[in-house]
Amino acid sequence: LHSTLEQAKRFAAYRAVDENLDYLNHRVIGVGSGSTVIYVAERLGQYLLDPKYAVHASQFVCIPTGFQSKGLILTNGLRLGTIEQHPSLDIVFDGADEVDVNLQLIKGGGGCLFQEKLVSTSAAKFVVVADYRKRSPKYLGTNWVKGVPIEVVPTSYIRVLSDLKTKLKCKNAVLRQGAPAKAGPVVTDNCNFIIDADFGEIEHPEILHRDIKMLVGVVETGLFIDNASKAYFGNPDGSVDLRV
Ligand code: A5P
Repeated sequence: LHSTLEQAKRFAAYRAVDENLDYLNHRVIGVGSGSTVIYVAERLGQYLLDPKYAVHASQFVCIPTGFQSKGLILTNGLRLGTIEQHPSLDIVFDGADEVDVNLQLIKGGGGCLFQEKLVSTSAAKFVVVADYRKRSPKYLGTNWVKGVPIEVVPTSYIRVLSDLKTKLKCKNAVLRQGAPAKAGPVVTDNCNFIIDADFGEIEHPEILHRDIKMLVGVVETGLFIDNASKAYFGNPDGSVDLRV
């Protein structure tokens, strides 16, 4: 038995794949991270088994955005490739923590923001798959209140925490902790740390992204600017809304 939330994620993912994957021409496909892309990988796996698509789908190469993503590709019988082998992708499907009215995103709730950004900015098309909770009525920082995820080099975290507060007027910034699963900080797939920085509602995400990125020690921010092509939001009633 599936909850309405899971169904909302599944419907959004299936619609996004069916409406955007050009199975005749697309070959290099990015598969993102999180709980919604599970259904993207599931759908891509179904293409492999469907006689209508199988010949073309067997040519798909899927590029992961982290450890979990790699597992989704493998368990669905898809072919795994690396971003080094395929630096230009035809399309990428990924989740988001929040999507604003201009399709700017907060990502990194799952800690995979660096590889997600590397992959999504290498793709000709980036399609967001999400449920209704991710759709901000206006600005970022409205629905997602845990702050902007920032990946930092471990030895720099004290310095970045301090710079965020003093130079960028951040309201609150914390080093993401692994508890209760692990004592101590979350360590990313790239062996870095994550800081969650609360700026309240974000009116100018492009400026904030640039300012954070300038701080010594910052590898990448979870603000995805002018990157997404469109976003699909699954609703509890089974309908799916599109934001372009
Ligand atoms: C991972 O780091 C994130 O960017 C995810 O893409 C994001 O958190 C969305 O995850 P869900 O689909 O689980 O909400």
